[in-house]
Amino acid sequence: MARFEQETLSFYPVLNSPFSILNCLLSLQFLSLLLTIPSFPLAAIRPVSSPRETIEQQAVSSFRRHFECPPSVVASAPGRINLIGEHTDYNDGYVLPAAIDRTTAVALGHRADDKLVMRSASFTEEASFRVARLYPSERRTWTDYVIGVASLLQDRCGTLKGANLLVHGDVPRGAGLSSSASLELAVAFGLIRLNGFSVPSLDIINICQRAEHEFAGVRCGIMDQFIACLGKRDHALLLDCRSQSYEHIPLPPGMGLLICDTGVRRALGNSEYNARRQQCEEGVRILSTRIAGVKALRDVSMDQLHEFSQLLSPLVLRRCIHVVTENARTLRSAEALRRNDLGEFGKLMYDSHASLRADYEVSCAELDAVVDICAVCEGVYGARMTGAGFGGCAVCALTVESIPRVTECLGAGYTRRFKRVPSVYACTIEDGAASRCL
Ligand code: GLA
Repeated sequence: MARFEQETLSFYPVLNSPFSILNCLLSLQFLSLLLTIPSFPLAAIRPVSSPRETIEQQAVSSFRRHFECPPSVVASAPGRINLIGEHTDYNDGYVLPAAIDRTTAVALGHRADDKLVMRSASFTEEASFRVARLYPSERRTWTDYVIGVASLLQDRCGTLKGANLLVHGDVPRGAGLSSSASLELAVAFGLIRLNGFSVPSLDIINICQRAEHEFAGVRCGIMDQFIACLGKRDHALLLDCRSQSYEHIPLPPGMGLLICDTGVRRALGNSEYNARRQQCEEGVRILSTRIAGVKALRDVSMDQLHEFSQLLSPLVLRRCIHVVTENARTLRSAEALRRNDLGEFGKLMYDSHASLRADYEVSCAELDAVVDICAVCEGVYGARMTGAGFGGCAVCALTVESIPRVTECLGAGYTRRFKRVPSVYACTIEDGAASRCL
């Protein structure tokens, strides 16, 4: 594994740079379209060749170059934004994510031996494991996600054939856009196709979530794997994380979505995340001694929380308040989107951010500033941090027409305050994971 150190540290950032250029070109295409078309849905700006196809083609070309033969399968899965419903999934609550036009692709080909050999597109080093010995590395590396998925798939479906894997993507790492779930889902879809297995979507989702728990050490909820698998173009996904029932909700035409990456990456993100989960469990443990049938914070109402607030430490109480109110906001947001009430939806986004900042304490000065800047820009419905927090990205819902102006405003305001240029881009909402034989 030592051979992988350098690659592990710079895997996504390095892959990202060519795509910043791509993003600029797309933005130029977008701006020129804006000048000629007065008002149109965001979907109208999709380039003819999708960024996802481009990423898949690049994975295939890199595979040919590195392994000196063509791959037989390519699979890919998107990153995601979460519109609302943050830190609710591991409390059996509701989430409302959407898959974005940022992708991780994996090209795969058979090998004659029983090894899984994996590389990224940008480096010459490779990691190699026998399928009978798939264990997480001592250091945490991105290969743990691949190994985790492969190992759990093998438990479920039988011995894997030896394979070469080439991973390539443009989901920024550690930015709260779920690069790890997109990697897990792309690998799962690729290995399933290569081995001729048949696995229902819900099982794939659960295998990928377990890979993250057991091989990467993050006790994540089910949201990211769910949306990376079952995302739908131009739709958000309302998911009940307890029953795992879901509904695709069409996004109102004319609503644009901007992602603003603060560039802040928190080294302690995983341990803080696990700590939040423990604090919620502590709340459930205490409340369940007084309220019958409480298995998760999903089962607690605000009235009950007030009634038993004295039993909880101030910190655990704040965490519980966030989760209980966020579940209600998520259901109300889905309703607002169904009736195209973007004013109400935007207000709920701001409320969610305020709660994540004050009660759940997972925001940071940079994310707060992005939301504050958005709040005074004309054409913005709402904004909030997205994903686990502790840095990463904010998402802003706005009129499509206002995208160039708000992008500029965010760039200028953020740079003035933090002396650093944020990465701001309009995203489109895309389909979940897919694979195909070549
Ligand atoms: C991360 C986790 C998700 C979810 C979010 C916070 O993205 O992977 O399961 O808990 O944080 O909403």
